[in-house]
Amino acid sequence: MLNKIRVKDVGGHVGQEITLKGWLYNKRSSGKLHFLQLRDGSGIIQCVVFKGDVTPEVFELADKITQESSIEVTGTVREDKRSPLGFELGVKDIKVLQMAKDYPISPKEHGTAFLMDNRHLWLRSSRQVAILKIRDEIIFSIREYFKNNGFVLVDSPILTPAACEGTSTLFETDYFGQKALLSQSGQLYGEASAMALGKIYCFGPTFRAEKSKTRRHLTEFWMVEPEVAFNDLDDNMDLAEDFICYIVEKVLKNCRAELEVLGRDISKLENIKKPFPRISYTEAIEILNKNGNPTQWGGDIGGDEETIISKSFDRPVMIHRYPAAIKAFYMKRDPKDEKLALAVDVIGPEGYGEIIGGSQREEDYDVLVKRIHEQGLDESAFDWYLDLRKYGSVPHSGFGMGIERAVAWICGLPHVRETIPFPRLMDRLKP
Ligand code: 4AD
Ligand code: MG
Repeated sequence: MLNKIRVKDVGGHVGQEITLKGWLYNKRSSGKLHFLQLRDGSGIIQCVVFKGDVTPEVFELADKITQESSIEVTGTVREDKRSPLGFELGVKDIKVLQMAKDYPISPKEHGTAFLMDNRHLWLRSSRQVAILKIRDEIIFSIREYFKNNGFVLVDSPILTPAACEGTSTLFETDYFGQKALLSQSGQLYGEASAMALGKIYCFGPTFRAEKSKTRRHLTEFWMVEPEVAFNDLDDNMDLAEDFICYIVEKVLKNCRAELEVLGRDISKLENIKKPFPRISYTEAIEILNKNGNPTQWGGDIGGDEETIISKSFDRPVMIHRYPAAIKAFYMKRDPKDEKLALAVDVIGPEGYGEIIGGSQREEDYDVLVKRIHEQGLDESAFDWYLDLRKYGSVPHSGFGMGIERAVAWICGLPHVRETIPFPRLMDRLKP
């Protein structure tokens, strides 16, 4: 008898007797037969218990097993053309490790609040398993993309002394009597790392005390942030576009079954090819006005506006050169028009909104000091960051992609709360 075979591998064992370990996902019975759906995380297999094949005790046990009980099932692998897996198990023996009692999530529909309260159990559903596998594929392909392209992973700290993305969304904590802030972005440290290694990325959890309850905002989310010495804004856009295409290609190649579980329209993803349209902020405002949205030049392009713009394109659209007044202190101004920052946001298609935010960075010491003062920030907190402009400063650019926004778009989910195992939202810290 072979050990430790997982459901996804049963095809290699047709005709053999094997033991599978997992949980009872679902069950159906008819007279002399029990059909047990066993899930083990790698897949779901139908285990057929025929009265004539097992002892009376095992047949009765099969009748009693409850949803989500942990079980070991021994039987022979058979081909089964009708099942999604292509195989089933003809059961000889069953062991129950623990009989579950009153599992709260039944196959009937539950409300979102209930499912969120039971997130630790909800993760076991086929839909959540599919999302987590796609998330894993996205993260793996990100790391692979950077490795293949000469980037070095250099992670940034999470406990920091200064804000990166404005002072209105900071989580503060006590650090041995000193104030520490949870990182909103690893970028500033990423810039230091890029001056050491040329091409780097950091990838970690980031925090925003977002007081907004939208389908796009978490208070804790994962951000991947490449930073490249000697890249200008155009290079940055080339990188963002190539990066996104690679990720989508990998998900299409390796996660078809999971996309199907989610009912994702795969043709929409197959459309994601270079080049992405590049429009200026000014052109974006024109598109908005033409579509009846009244945003004036200088105004913020928020979630609703992003949705309108994305509807004009069948792939991600890159909006560049925003008014400097609405962007972060570290962004370089456009030498052709000082009112503009050399920023770029990548807006996902199908109304998914901003997936990526990035820019070329200000590399001049004096200008950067001026910006820090203009935004009312404390210069002393940035002394180390300013050093980067004193010792071999070079043009450089980078961006940040929020993993959950990317997962929501690629999976076609209406809300980011299902894109991360344990979402942290304004009104949710548990489980
Ligand atoms: O546009 P943001 O704020 O940019 C930065 O933080 C830069 N420092 C990144 C850089 O240039 N290295 O955030 C980047 C991305 C957004 O485009 C979005 O995908 C995601 O992070 N994001 C959030 N995702 C979920 N919930 C939130 N509250 C998010 N805020 C930003
Ligand atoms: Mg942004």
